[in-house]
Amino acid sequence: MKPLNKNLIKGIQFVVVLVFFGFVFSFFLITPSKARILENKQSKNFDDQTKYTVFPHETHQLECNSCHKFPSSNWEKVRKEAFPDITDYPKHESCLECHREQFFLSGPKPTICSICHTNPSPNDGSRHPFDNPREIFDETPKGKAKVSDFQIHFAHDKHIDIVSRNENPFEQNRNGFTFFKASHKRSNEDSCKVCHQTYRPQDKSDEEYFSPPPKGLGDAFWLKKGTFKTVPNGHTTCFTCHNTDTGITPAQNECATCHKLKQPFPKADFDMQLAEKIGVTERFMLQSWQKRDSSGAFRHEFFSHADLSCSTCHNVNKMDTLDAKTKKVLVSSCAPCHITATSDEGGILNYEIDSRKKDAKFECVKCHISFGKMDIPNSHLKAISELGKGN
Ligand code: HEC
Ligand code: HEC
Ligand code: HEC
Ligand code: HEC
Ligand code: HEC
Ligand code: HEC
Ligand code: HEC
Ligand code: HEC
Ligand code: HEC
Repeated sequence: MKPLNKNLIKGIQFVVVLVFFGFVFSFFLITPSKARILENKQSKNFDDQTKYTVFPHETHQLECNSCHKFPSSNWEKVRKEAFPDITDYPKHESCLECHREQFFLSGPKPTICSICHTNPSPNDGSRHPFDNPREIFDETPKGKAKVSDFQIHFAHDKHIDIVSRNENPFEQNRNGFTFFKASHKRSNEDSCKVCHQTYRPQDKSDEEYFSPPPKGLGDAFWLKKGTFKTVPNGHTTCFTCHNTDTGITPAQNECATCHKLKQPFPKADFDMQLAEKIGVTERFMLQSWQKRDSSGAFRHEFFSHADLSCSTCHNVNKMDTLDAKTKKVLVSSCAPCHITATSDEGGILNYEIDSRKKDAKFECVKCHISFGKMDIPNSHLKAISELGKGN
């Protein structure tokens, strides 16, 4: 035999061994959780059809790729500026192994189909838009009501410098590892804009309220435009850098590095009835408001606020996006404008605390939607006493 062929055979042997171990490895990786889920299946009453209207990730903790095959076959069609992405539901084969009974019921329509299909029948394959891209999904009835099972893990400290070096990642070639070549360094705060913009700003319009307020509003709260900052709502920015061409991990198919099952949120400074009265129905806005556990009334676009550096109120280096505590904005960051050492200097916090002391029913409405009825937290008293010390 010629030496060339010998090498070829060795190569094939190597690949066979690699594939074998790869197979064994993935078998061990997946099997324990699948076994647990199947065990669970035997212990449950699977005949109860009513349960099969919502798909919960919590009870399906398998490898993401066992259902979501990257990329979906329709990725080129859903966006104008298309890039390989997950833009459709998992196919039947992802469910059949365990849900054969639910798929092939005799009798009335199987409920399980409606998770993905708009008009389930053996000869109609039409589906709801998938959760991604959100621009399309959020506008649908299913999208408006959707609560995601996940939260995003994103370490700001590992990204700010990299994004700063990039003149504008949106303009870079998606497939090129070009972002280190950019000639001028963005200031760190410029980088925030790449992922966070003022949402529905007032800009040059004369109308500062989000919707017409009732007559005689007085000091009561009514939502103003430009209150919220956006957060990324999909993969467009992330996948400019995170893709198999740049080699920056996590790659697009390593879903679980960025998506983590959601933890319960702390109580928010939010009132659903008020939001409805104001006419807020958009998923993004409601979602942001429901996550506000510091100040539900704070408005980013307001000129005295917009002039400040983001770091006045947000310490992104200490922030863990999965841990609400680390995202809290401290009341002390509202000093010295709204908090003063003495009440005579006009701090609104001082005024509200004094008013509460005089009248136990006094409600603090400057910064709060629902928190203002509650007891005064220590952090508020401390913010004033600290200023006193500084003088
Ligand atoms: C057993 C199959 C299965 C597995 C495993 C699975 N998914 Fe899903 N996933 C689905 C289905 C089905 C939907 C659509 C659900 C719907 O429309 O209500 C979905 C929707 C989603 C969505 C959009 C809805 C939401 O809750 O935000 C995200 C994000 C997602 N999956 C991420 C993941 C990640 C990350 C993993 C791995 C940790 C994973 N999935 C594992 C089947 C699966
Ligand atoms: C490895 C087995 C397995 C696979 C694969 C699987 N499921 Fe399940 N599924 C289960 C088990 C077990 C339960 C019952 C869990 C429970 O209620 O504790 C369940 C429950 C459900 C429910 C009822 C809601 C709940 O959890 O109580 C829905 C809906 C569902 N699955 C949809 C799907 C869909 C859609 C797919 C495919 C995208 C899928 N499942 C893939 C095992 C599986
Ligand atoms: C987890 C989501 C999901 C569920 C649940 C589901 N489907 Fe589908 N279905 C799909 C997807 C995705 C396709 C497109 C498959 C493709 O492109 O190869 C599809 C395709 C179809 C088609 C078109 C023909 C074909 O095979 O391409 C029909 C018909 C269909 N499904 C019927 C059903 C019925 C009936 C049920 C319930 C018994 C059901 N589906 C449950 C996701 C789902
Ligand atoms: C490459 C994109 C990216 C850049 C650049 C970026 N962020 Fe973020 N930021 C995120 C993501 C992703 C989250 C998590 C969003 C979520 O939980 O849905 C987040 C969350 C946040 C939050 C918490 C939001 C909340 O839910 O309470 C704040 C505050 C924040 N970022 C501020 C900043 C500031 C200030 C900068 C600039 C110094 C910055 N970010 C730069 C992507 C980015
Ligand atoms: C004067 C203080 C202050 C400044 C300056 C500030 N923010 Fe905020 N920001 C807040 C408060 C308060 C919240 C609401 C936090 C909560 O209640 O959980 C918030 C929330 C956010 C959120 C979550 C979405 C939302 O609006 O609720 C993001 C993202 C964010 N800020 C980004 C930024 C960025 C980027 C900058 C700089 C361009 C910035 N912020 C400047 C005080 C500030
Ligand atoms: C400008 C390029 C760039 C963009 C845009 C970007 N990343 Fe990254 N990301 C990187 C680089 C480089 C690393 C490796 C950094 C390190 O390990 O020090 C990384 C690391 C990570 C990691 C792994 C490190 C860890 O903390 O576990 C996660 C998760 C991540 N990025 C999520 C995201 C998400 C989510 C987005 C979009 C909101 C995003 N990235 C956008 C360049 C980028
Ligand atoms: C580099 C980080 C990263 C990776 C890898 C990643 N995602 Fe995402 N994904 C995000 C961010 C950031 C968002 C938008 C913010 C959010 O969901 O709150 C998002 C949004 C989504 C959405 C839109 C619905 C929603 O919950 O907002 C779906 C569906 C989704 N991802 C599925 C997947 C699946 C499936 C994979 C693996 C094949 C995957 N993602 C891989 C970061 C990532
Ligand atoms: C200048 C703005 C501002 C004013 C005025 C204000 N707060 Fe707050 N409040 C905040 C911020 C910011 C937080 C979140 C961080 C903190 O506690 O330091 C907060 C948090 C809270 C919380 C939640 C504490 C927790 O458990 O995390 C309560 C309750 C509260 N405030 C009640 C009040 C009451 C009662 C008043 C009137 C006496 C008041 N606030 C006045 C800005 C304000
Ligand atoms: C650099 C000074 C400065 C800082 C710091 C500052 N603000 Fe303000 N803020 C102002 C000014 C000036 C106004 C307009 C006068 C007024 O309403 O008190 C204002 C107005 C407001 C309003 C009413 C906005 C409106 O459009 O009706 C709220 C709510 C508010 N601030 C919350 C906060 C919170 C919460 C913090 C801290 C997280 C904060 N501000 C930090 C200067 C500041």
